[in-house]
Amino acid sequence: MLHLKRQLPYRPTERMNVVSYPIRDIVMEAKREEAKGRKMIYLNIGDPPQYGFPSFRVISDKVKEALEANFNGYAPSEGDEELRNTVSKIEKCGPGDVFAVAGLTEGIDFFFHSFIGFGEKVLLPNPVYPLYLSKAKQFEGECVFYRHDADGQIDIGYLAKKVEGAKAMVIINPNNPLGSVYSEKNLSEAVKLCAEFDVPIFYDGSYDQLILEGKQIDFRKIARGKIPFIYGSSLSKDFSYPGARIGWVAFHGDKWSEVKNAFFLLCNQRLSVNWEYQKAAAAAIVDPSYPGYVSEMRKKLLERRNTFIKMAGKLPLSFPVPKGAFYAFIKIETKRWKKDIEFVRAALKKGVVFVPGSGFGRQEDGVYFRTTFLPEPDIIEKAFSAIKSIL
Ligand SMILES: Cc1ncc(COP(=O)(O)O)c(C=O)c1O
Repeated sequence: MLHLKRQLPYRPTERMNVVSYPIRDIVMEAKREEAKGRKMIYLNIGDPPQYGFPSFRVISDKVKEALEANFNGYAPSEGDEELRNTVSKIEKCGPGDVFAVAGLTEGIDFFFHSFIGFGEKVLLPNPVYPLYLSKAKQFEGECVFYRHDADGQIDIGYLAKKVEGAKAMVIINPNNPLGSVYSEKNLSEAVKLCAEFDVPIFYDGSYDQLILEGKQIDFRKIARGKIPFIYGSSLSKDFSYPGARIGWVAFHGDKWSEVKNAFFLLCNQRLSVNWEYQKAAAAAIVDPSYPGYVSEMRKKLLERRNTFIKMAGKLPLSFPVPKGAFYAFIKIETKRWKKDIEFVRAALKKGVVFVPGSGFGRQEDGVYFRTTFLPEPDIIEKAFSAIKSIL
């Protein structure tokens, strides 16, 4: 028998103890270094336009059109009809199963708010994009972690020991921070386990077009009819337009009527998402020039990833080779550092900004940090040359 007790009374400011975002938290320290006159290379955040990846042009063109067309009221709370229709065709679900959100960030927030109750287990990858940790804590869920093999694939044997009793499993593919792209076999095995133990999946497809090596797998085809799942994505990464703050979630399967009702309430409460950008999203995601655009983006990313591998490969570091997205999760293979934050601070003194590995969940077997490989090759070379002396 499980005895769980809430810690009451609860002062509002105490709630803030669980709110953190290590990817940006480190920037305050970096800015202090910058104020002393040090030039910094920011490898902490996955913000593609900052590193010369142009946003998908159709979006700004369509925003301009929408501005002229006076979409300046509140949009329908759950999302613009045209956007919901367009997404529903891609997702092969009904328009009523689709919600527009302010970046997938809001979709993740709504998901935890509406589905994860006090003490309920949520299966998260370790390492994990930090927002999931923060939201699980905020809504008082219990995090249970699954792990990866040396190649960055889900360790299915380990997952089999953890899956029972979970309220939901989160899959991020391609993965942030690992950069791994799960194989069809790997995803099918995870789905099979979830089906066996009746665990629905929240699938974070933020980077689903950014596969640099290997073939693109449609998770929906693997999971449809086998388990209930939610598929989320946004304009931020695949379209290099994080400032648009437009994302969407699509509900699949017949488990979700209460959760969808909760999404309606949450959407109503925040009134709406920017209407012009929703109109632009509706056009952009089916624009015929998108495949050409994203293929250029992948080409550029691959070159930068290869530079990263060349440079990091010369250092006492290990990591699964990133095959998608634009990050690597790196283990330091020397004994010099006991704590990741100490290494990250030493890197700041060398003018390079990384994120400590512990920001992505507790790492038991060593000291880790995360980098992005978005910058131009010469900047990546400079950054990894600069940290050589502190490893
Ligand atoms: C895995 C993952 N999910 C969700 C997000 C949130 O992105 P957005 O709110 O910009 O769509 C990010 C942002 O970095 C991410 O890496």
